[in-house]
Amino acid sequence: MKAWVVRHLGGPETLRFEDVEAGAPADGMVRIAIRASAINYFDALMVAGQYQVKPELPFVPGVEISGVVESAPAGSAFKKGDRVTALVDSGGLTRGGYAEITDATPATVQRLPDAMPFDDGAGFTLIFQTAWFGLHRRANLRPGETLLVHAGAGGVGSAAIQLGKAAGATVIATAGSDEKTAVCLKLGADHAINYKTQDFAEEVKGMTGGRGADVIFDPVGGDVYDRSTKCIAFEGRIVIVGFTSGRIPQAAANHVLVKNYSVVGLHWGLYSRRAPELLPAANAALMDLYASGKIKPLISARVPLVEAPKALAMVAGGKSTGKVILTV
Ligand SMILES: NC(=O)c1ccc[n+]([C@@H]2O[C@H](COP(=O)([O-])OP(=O)(O)OC[C@H]3O[C@@H](n4cnc5c(N)ncnc54)[C@H](OP(=O)(O)O)[C@@H]3O)[C@@H](O)[C@H]2O)c1
Repeated sequence: MKAWVVRHLGGPETLRFEDVEAGAPADGMVRIAIRASAINYFDALMVAGQYQVKPELPFVPGVEISGVVESAPAGSAFKKGDRVTALVDSGGLTRGGYAEITDATPATVQRLPDAMPFDDGAGFTLIFQTAWFGLHRRANLRPGETLLVHAGAGGVGSAAIQLGKAAGATVIATAGSDEKTAVCLKLGADHAINYKTQDFAEEVKGMTGGRGADVIFDPVGGDVYDRSTKCIAFEGRIVIVGFTSGRIPQAAANHVLVKNYSVVGLHWGLYSRRAPELLPAANAALMDLYASGKIKPLISARVPLVEAPKALAMVAGGKSTGKVILTV
């Protein structure tokens, strides 16, 4: 089978398209013929060796796939031919998503609803689960509150806009270009601000009668976090999701105290280890929202597997909107 292999850490150009001997799957693993694989921003960090998860070399990147089961362990809930989505762990040469075949542990595999195409299936779980846990579990977003979503045209941002609207919030989104603010509005945001050309903190205060946003969803960090503290409402919650700006900001404890707000962290991947019992309910709620047409992954590009490095560079450079999906 063909797979993109990381033998040396670096940029997307270090990936090599190789013939990999898949062999038989390890005991207990579900073997899946991949049909679609999502590119995530952190794939680029992993390929560069800058992510908190550092697989041993060589490895195949990509953690989020959908496809068809080729074989499953006896007694598992799956059988050959099932349409599924799975989260894989990028460890070794048959556990990554930028490939034709992958092996997944049964606990990370889910059946795809008939009405969900493979590309939606591959691009669904991570962004929507992250936004769900950020908004509902960590920030307790309530109907009628004002939600500010940074980088609203990106993967997790596009999910947060849709979930914010589904939860009955007023949603203000920021993005780095006028094309991207238009994307945010199309996703349902009530207002969108180009944070490269406007001071979003002043804009948000103006839109909320000086009160600020009750919840701020921040995948960007750096200066964006710093300015967010200027427009967070009394008893507001800033959810720290990521640092695509490249700078990890410092939270000033005195400012948190005097303005009476909370800064909460979100590491969605940790829930599968520390509180896996919370995942099925979130998944069921998300699938219901998908079935009712209230949420859908924004897929901006479908790229053949053979062009994976180009697609990864696009995401890493902040040039993409929503999800970029590799098709196999
Ligand atoms: N905490 C968690 O559990 C969790 C889960 C999933 C993802 N994440 C993290 O969330 C962040 C966003 O992930 P994503 O999948 O939504 O990524 P994405 O689709 O690539 O979107 C990231 C957005 O960040 C903005 N950005 C600002 N400065 C940037 C820069 N210097 N380089 C690239 N982008 C920049 C860009 O939007 P503008 O052009 O509009 O500024 C870009 O579209 C990443 O840090 C990722 O690791 C965290």
